[in-house]
Amino acid sequence: MTLKLATTLDGRIATRTGESQWITGAESRLSVHGLRAQHDGVLVGIGTALADDPQLTVRGLALPGNSQPHRIILDTHLRLPPHAQVFEPDSGSVFVLCGLEAAASERRRVLEQSGAVILSCQLDADGHVEIESALAQLAAQRLTSIFVEGGGSVASAFLRARLVDRLEWFRAPLIIGGDGLAAVSSLGVDQLLDGIRFKRMGVRNSGADIWETYELEA
Ligand SMILES: NC(=O)c1ccc[n+]([C@@H]2O[C@H](COP(=O)([O-])OP(=O)(O)OC[C@H]3O[C@@H](n4cnc5c(N)ncnc54)[C@H](OP(=O)(O)O)[C@@H]3O)[C@@H](O)[C@H]2O)c1
Repeated sequence: MTLKLATTLDGRIATRTGESQWITGAESRLSVHGLRAQHDGVLVGIGTALADDPQLTVRGLALPGNSQPHRIILDTHLRLPPHAQVFEPDSGSVFVLCGLEAAASERRRVLEQSGAVILSCQLDADGHVEIESALAQLAAQRLTSIFVEGGGSVASAFLRARLVDRLEWFRAPLIIGGDGLAAVSSLGVDQLLDGIRFKRMGVRNSGADIWETYELEA
């Protein structure tokens, strides 16, 4: 699983009002589209889907056979609007992963009419879609390489489950302060030894930004 983060120098992914477009520059954003193209699916949480209404497609690059990666939303209660932009492209599927209760509700039919494929999952202790259950459902659809694009809650959920083996981190020369939204929300780490350690595999300039690639340390 690859986690992408586009942050300020002080590790924030949005201002305190939720504005995140755009923290990083055009060159970094084009690289993100290239990374999307290398994966089976591009995944975000419903918080990001509601805040940014993203398309989650590859744009600005030639795609063989116009084969867009699939779009994936973690959305326990099926809050995704039926006219969300994620439904607009006519290639690839939109998978919405929800809880069993929502999967039995009228919301399911509404989203299916928009073209969503609804996959019902177990819930975790916090009442959100359980990440392992979501990945099992996606694997059953032959989606095994997932590009996780956030936001902070979903990034933490994947990290907490120790399911991120690669990080693509774009860092802009900007500081917005501790009241901005953290790239990774709480992990409950008390000791440094309990942190998740990565090994840096590459660092390069990306316009005014820095693009770092990390792999999980064995
Ligand atoms: N700079 C960047 O790279 C970047 C990227 C993405 C987003 N953003 C910004 O980040 C903000 C959104 O971040 P966010 O943290 O509020 O939202 P988020 O991580 O996108 O979505 C969180 C929501 O996802 C749902 N969810 C389902 N299963 C989950 C699980 N296992 N763990 C955690 N959440 C789960 C939960 O709602 P339910 O339980 O109702 O399903 C939860 O409230 C926006 O301001 C956006 O602009 C920035």
